[in-house]
Amino acid sequence: MQYLTVALAKGRLAELAMDLFIENGYDCSEMKEKSRKLIFTDEKNKMKFILVKASDVPTYVEYGAADIGIVGKDSLLEENKNLYEMINLGFGACKMAVCGPIEMKDKFRKINNLKVASKYTKIAENYFQEQLGQTIELIKLNGSVELAPLVGLSDVIVDIVESGKTLKENGLDVLEEVCPLSAWFVVNKVSMKIHRERIMKIVEGFKKRV
Ligand code: PRP
Repeated sequence: MQYLTVALAKGRLAELAMDLFIENGYDCSEMKEKSRKLIFTDEKNKMKFILVKASDVPTYVEYGAADIGIVGKDSLLEENKNLYEMINLGFGACKMAVCGPIEMKDKFRKINNLKVASKYTKIAENYFQEQLGQTIELIKLNGSVELAPLVGLSDVIVDIVESGKTLKENGLDVLEEVCPLSAWFVVNKVSMKIHRERIMKIVEGFKKRV
């Protein structure tokens, strides 16, 4: 039997995904031990698990280097790859939102060339240009995005809000929700044809628990 490869988004989502695989009878014990290894094997079930940076999971799945991926909707929206989004696993729930100083709440929709900082430039661009029809100046950042409005780099940000703690501690607020986010089970299109039965067995097992 051929191995099925599962790409997990490194971090909290990978931990929760592993629990789901364990509950469904897969052996993730090797992965549960803290190490720097990035690839793990469950010989009994002929499965391989790889730990990948979240934003790279859709790429591994699109190219077929992984048959299956477990990744946040944020990465799926931003990367926009050609793959099957099979089920919303529900965990890792948070939201994508336009955030900024509260004074911006009634103003930001009317500003021409609104300065928007984000790690998620495609999501931000799509939201403002396509959905709202507002022209913006996009500023790509790679982290600590909440800083941008505090130091005058941008008017607002588009970022993930989970507990809201980062915003609160930096004096910012949610101005508008863009979309809800959570972890998804995604599948490579060719793998779905070749390994349909095995993949559907995993999907059905997961569906019972989410
Ligand atoms: C994410 C996100 C927010 C924060 C939201 O950042 O970009 O900054 O978490 O969480 P909260 O609402 O619970 O405070 P991450 O930890 O990935 O760091 P980075 O964006 O600065 O790299």
